[in-house]
Amino acid sequence: MVHIASDDRYDSMQYQRCGRSGVLLPKVSLGLWHNFGDTHPLGTQRAVLRRAVDLGVTHIDLANNYGPPPGSAEANFGTVFAQDFRPYRDELFIATKAGYLMWPGPYGEWGSRKYLLASLDQSLSRMGLDHVDVFYSHRFDPDTPLEETMGALDSAVRQGKALYAGLSNYPPEAIDEAAAILTELRTPYLINQHPYSMLQRGVEGGVLESSARAGVGVIAFSPLAQGQLTDRYLHGVPADSRMALGHFLTRDALTEERLTLLRALNKLAEGRGQTLAQMALAWVLRDPRVVSVLIGASSVTQLEQNVAVLDSPGFTDAELAEIDRLSVEAGVDLP
Ligand SMILES: NC(=O)c1ccc[n+]([C@@H]2O[C@H](COP(=O)([O-])OP(=O)(O)OC[C@H]3O[C@@H](n4cnc5c(N)ncnc54)[C@H](OP(=O)(O)O)[C@@H]3O)[C@@H](O)[C@H]2O)c1
Repeated sequence: MVHIASDDRYDSMQYQRCGRSGVLLPKVSLGLWHNFGDTHPLGTQRAVLRRAVDLGVTHIDLANNYGPPPGSAEANFGTVFAQDFRPYRDELFIATKAGYLMWPGPYGEWGSRKYLLASLDQSLSRMGLDHVDVFYSHRFDPDTPLEETMGALDSAVRQGKALYAGLSNYPPEAIDEAAAILTELRTPYLINQHPYSMLQRGVEGGVLESSARAGVGVIAFSPLAQGQLTDRYLHGVPADSRMALGHFLTRDALTEERLTLLRALNKLAEGRGQTLAQMALAWVLRDPRVVSVLIGASSVTQLEQNVAVLDSPGFTDAELAEIDRLSVEAGVDLP
């Protein structure tokens, strides 16, 4: 049966304007990188997606290679979308990307026009959509002229297969150059997607400035550092956690130094009357150039806890300084 979205789904979510565009994005967006492949029960995926929509999380982020296996997150999303969300298509803001290895041979990754446009067609077919809201170049390709990659994003928009273009993981100088090309082409360039958390602060070294110059919003991925900035690993590595099961977050991340930092941050969060996860998300959202935190969730409970960041108190200068001090002490690079 089609999901009937709750009547109050827009009552508590907060929306922010994405750069200099007409688009409002929820402060919390949901990504399907993990937990939505064929290795996870479709029932849980469906429950998380339904709850997200009911909480006003209108923005869902995918990529061609999300799974495992690659492509399965888009296919599973397509299944749930067909069952539950088709009547709500215009209430949702759906993104996909191409850039990483998707199929064998010379045309299955990076930034060529050949790869990007074929990949978008494949993504649309897996999801059962006629267009996505954002199509991203997933990574900067140093060997393909930027004109070609930007031209492919422009074509995706002109063909009606994407409404906006986005860039992910581009260095600041490439963002400046790409923005100039997209302006010339009059392509609706909306957003940059980058990692940003208390443990990964690289965007402070130029990406936030380049994005502001280009008039595009920044969406922060892995704002919980894949679960490290939660209570998940404070007392060991749970058997069902990403660190125990996945390949992208491994046990060697959890050094004694890192654990000391996480415990200290957790204490700070308790003092603020919130969970570590909520404080970590609020910290990323403190910068007005960040339009949304792009979280992952393996359960409805995690999603609900994270959306509660909207009730977070602001930070005092002393708290921000303390977070910086603890981070530097634990070896986190501050640009
Ligand atoms: N553009 C890119 O190159 C790129 C790269 C990476 C990610 N992304 C995007 O960003 C999205 C989010 O990335 P991410 O999944 O790494 O984000 P994240 O929010 O930093 O980590 C999500 C993980 O943290 C744990 N978690 C979340 N909420 C929790 C809570 N309240 N309490 C305890 N644990 C909690 C869960 O781990 P368990 O599974 O252990 O429960 C969950 O799977 C991706 O889905 C994708 O859309 C983009």
